[in-house]
Amino acid sequence: MKITVIGAGYVGLVTAACFSDIGNEVICVEKDTNKLEKLKNGFSPIYEPGLTEKLKRNIEAKRILFTSSMEESINFSDVIFLCVGTPQSDDGKADLSQVEEASRQIAINMSSYKLIIEKSTVPVNTHQWVERTINRYAKKGIDFDVASNPEFLREGSAIYDFTNPDRIVVGVESEKAKNIFRDLYKQFTDKGFPLLITTPATAELIKHASNSFLATKISYINMVSDLCEKVGADISMVAEGMGFDKRIGKPFLNAGIGYGGSCFPKDVKAFIKMAEEQGVDFGILKETEKINSERRKNFIDKIEEILWINKDKNVAVWGLAFKPNTDDIREAPALDIIKDLNLSKANLRLYDPVATENFKRIFPETSSLKYYNDMYETLKDADALIILTEWNDFAAADLEKIKKLMKLPIIIDGRNIFDPEKMKQNNFEYYSIGR
Ligand SMILES: NC(=O)c1ccc[n+]([C@@H]2O[C@H](COP(=O)([O-])OP(=O)(O)OC[C@H]3O[C@@H](n4cnc5c(N)ncnc54)[C@H](O)[C@@H]3O)[C@@H](O)[C@H]2O)c1
Repeated sequence: MKITVIGAGYVGLVTAACFSDIGNEVICVEKDTNKLEKLKNGFSPIYEPGLTEKLKRNIEAKRILFTSSMEESINFSDVIFLCVGTPQSDDGKADLSQVEEASRQIAINMSSYKLIIEKSTVPVNTHQWVERTINRYAKKGIDFDVASNPEFLREGSAIYDFTNPDRIVVGVESEKAKNIFRDLYKQFTDKGFPLLITTPATAELIKHASNSFLATKISYINMVSDLCEKVGADISMVAEGMGFDKRIGKPFLNAGIGYGGSCFPKDVKAFIKMAEEQGVDFGILKETEKINSERRKNFIDKIEEILWINKDKNVAVWGLAFKPNTDDIREAPALDIIKDLNLSKANLRLYDPVATENFKRIFPETSSLKYYNDMYETLKDADALIILTEWNDFAAADLEKIKKLMKLPIIIDGRNIFDPEKMKQNNFEYYSIGR
């Protein structure tokens, strides 16, 4: 099939790369000229495992093309994925200006039937506004459908998630569009991945409700971890014990410094706002948010309790991305924690396997805030090591080497990557969450 993808961000690029890799012809339109330049030269502007290889392979096979021309892109195919950003606006609602702009551009440029698919995460009934916008701006008499096909990929394992989805959700009204979706996802359904076809409103709601539920699960286990610290129980074992219950499940029961990233914070907020507009007070989600923002503050307090005075202490920090295997730092807990440590005049020595360049744009290097290319380099003469992201490399670190390099063997672990018993045996002063 021929496919158009609007927006070459995390979702657009993965969608374009994965659909082209299974034999479709894809055109991807991007308005950011820096990103476009990189893509045209076969480089991915984001770090996502496996993405560069897929892009290179399909660019060479001429199955994927990048452009800035909306006219060319809209006329290329009948199937158009909207993968533009839906960030948080000042009042907490989803900012849908990119969706509106792209809808107008589709309308102005279309000259035959189009299936316009929202892959971006949008509040329920956004499809009605997309439809209205197309009707207003398109030439009269051109047939089209608007559908919702939300994306559930996780950054860091996006290619795997896209190609091995737990479910494919499609919200669409017309039989014609349903059949296009059945063709589009045939290779997936043939392998047994479930395709749920429903209405656009239901599909839109499934995405927001799923993200909000997962965020709530994280805040819930974080509160249980606070209780564990008070009563001397171990959150890792509590979570394991809970997770064996199939009704609960193990994923998303890792206590720590809370969720971040480009999705959960803004999606929870947008879901609360949308519910509010419908007269529904989603109190549980307000509490989820409150708990999550307190995690960062509690961790900052914990650091201060342990170090007493941060000023002039050499503090090594491992992990800046909001989670492992990505260079995305949007809403990362590290942003707040580094900001505070910096204000309290600690000497910061930062390391992340891939997120450093993004972090540097917000925190440029100074005499008291330095970036390192090697995680062990940060430890020379350090009074403490703070862990903010659970990269595998950190969990596999050489404990003897860490201890030799540090001035004091103090580790404050916001992600529970080490076994407290083992750390004790190795004579570390080790602090983690809920254990
Ligand atoms: N990042 C994730 O893990 C993830 C997962 C699932 C769903 N989502 C949702 O998918 C959507 C996209 O997320 P993202 O992280 O890929 O966003 P992003 O900001 O990384 O990418 C969006 C891209 O769209 C481009 N764009 C915007 N308007 C355009 C236009 N008119 N023409 C051409 N290009 C245009 C932007 O320049 C940008 O490169 C959001 O709604 C997000 O909530 C994201």
